[in-house]
Amino acid sequence: MTSEVRVYQREQLSAPCRRILVANAKGGSGKSTVSTNLAAALARMGYETALVDADPQQTSTFWMNQRTAEYPVVFGVNGAPQSGRSTLDWMLRVPRTMERVVIDSPGGIEPIRLGELIERVDIIVIPLLPSAIDIHATTEFIKNIFLSGAYRNRGKEIVVVGNRVNRRNKYFHALNRSLNALKISDIIHLPDSYVFLRCVDEGMGVIDLERKPHNKEVMDAVSHLVQRVEQSLSERNEH
Ligand SMILES: Nc1ncnc2c1ncn2[C@@H]1O[C@H](COP(=O)(O)OP(=O)(O)O)[C@@H](O)[C@H]1O
Ligand SMILES: [Mg+2]
Repeated sequence: MTSEVRVYQREQLSAPCRRILVANAKGGSGKSTVSTNLAAALARMGYETALVDADPQQTSTFWMNQRTAEYPVVFGVNGAPQSGRSTLDWMLRVPRTMERVVIDSPGGIEPIRLGELIERVDIIVIPLLPSAIDIHATTEFIKNIFLSGAYRNRGKEIVVVGNRVNRRNKYFHALNRSLNALKISDIIHLPDSYVFLRCVDEGMGVIDLERKPHNKEVMDAVSHLVQRVEQSLSERNEH
């Protein structure tokens, strides 16, 4: 696609709170990268945005700590399980004014905890690396979500993000074939780019970068993802 994609500023009316779960049973698939970039982009669109770090590894919390006041505010919430407390304790710490809540979940999440989260969110974003083992593990993960009561009862959408994609790689096609078999066709692709690494270090989303030619591909890819998520959320509003 050659056309330029941007994240547009929304109208300043307060929006109902929508929760976005970023999940995959596999570690290293890009959950924290996708979560932090989604949060930064939603904040830049003007939403009151919270980022819940539900992973004890605390990658998103590291990113939050690097983020400076020069970028739109993302409200950080520690959602890692704490002994003696409910695993949903974080919900009490998300301010009521939040309009978008992004939840960065851990790899190897137990089915019960995953079900608790799915029950409480509006959309599930699943980053997936194009490698044989990741495709296998993730298609099983998606099948289990499809079968779970928490998913089926509320008709939520899954958005799959092919992360670190190289379109010339044969696994790019394998990834599309496996997802098509699950009737998932509208896949968002994020390129493998050093720009993502730099942004973690600086507490930025790629959307916070200056729009220079070498940033265009990653910025457009993240904009596509945010637009896809927002489109799905607005369709939910209509029902
Ligand atoms: N699209 C990408 N391009 C380059 N590096 C990436 C990309 N996505 C993730 N990474 C890097 O891969 C590693 C794992 O990503 P991360 O988002 O932490 O995965 P997870 O949260 O699923 O464990 C991190 O070092 C991250 O910076
Ligand atoms: Mg992570």
